[in-house]
Amino acid sequence: MKNTVLTFVKAKQDKTKISMLTAYDYSTAKLINDAGINSILVGDSLGNVMLGYEDTVSVTMEDMIHHTKAVARGAKDALVIADMPFMSYQTSVYDAVVNAGRLMKEGRANAVKLEGGKEVCPQIKAIVDAGIPVCAHIGLTPQSINALGGNRVQGKTEDAAKKLLEDALAVQEAGAFAVVIEAVPEKLAGLITSRLDIVTIGIGAGNGCDGQVLVYQDMLGMFSDFTPKFVKRYANIGEMMTAAFRQYDEEVKNTAFPSAEHTYKIDDEIIEKLY
Ligand code: KIV
Repeated sequence: MKNTVLTFVKAKQDKTKISMLTAYDYSTAKLINDAGINSILVGDSLGNVMLGYEDTVSVTMEDMIHHTKAVARGAKDALVIADMPFMSYQTSVYDAVVNAGRLMKEGRANAVKLEGGKEVCPQIKAIVDAGIPVCAHIGLTPQSINALGGNRVQGKTEDAAKKLLEDALAVQEAGAFAVVIEAVPEKLAGLITSRLDIVTIGIGAGNGCDGQVLVYQDMLGMFSDFTPKFVKRYANIGEMMTAAFRQYDEEVKNTAFPSAEHTYKIDDEIIEKLY
């Protein structure tokens, strides 16, 4: 059955957890969907893990629409949330609504996600008023990496913790149906979760959140440029891929591949007539 924003509402009421993973293509979305994961985030982390940028700042609307389309085709049951890339909503409320609309109409997302607290509440309200569900994202907000001075844990001082709580309440008030909390101490994320009526999705925010999200290449050991402390590695698919690529290279070079079973046949008579 299709997961919707109502699945998130019910999960909060029933105190059941929401699972979310990122995906950026059809085949992976299908595998994640078929594993029963509630929601797929087409994260702008695609800038890092798919496009090889050092951050998410260069990701464009066209990149996001292209990958969201592919994921939406593979995610029959999972709720597809598309990230709004850097400068697609910060510039104005008008830009925010237009670009959120494009992710829904062209990308076929079920919801959009954007980064920030109080400062983006006018955008959240306008997008929600246009009939588009919004997931907020607070704590470590990677699009602001230059302002934050790096990928650091957020909310550790009294002022910063207070601001995070206020931001969480503000995005809820603006109409967000969920909020991602990234790289925040467990106790603070737990406290925020207990104060909110909407679902919190943690990434590096401990077990007290209402759900969890991970970047799939991180949890499968397919991306080694950097691995945050909060990543649990569930498999070493990267090593398996390299081993398979090496074996293929060897077999192509020693002609073990392709063997008869991977080869099409033709009558010898037909070939002889060509000589
Ligand atoms: O872009 C992304 O993948 C994200 C998650 C890390 C939450 O925003």
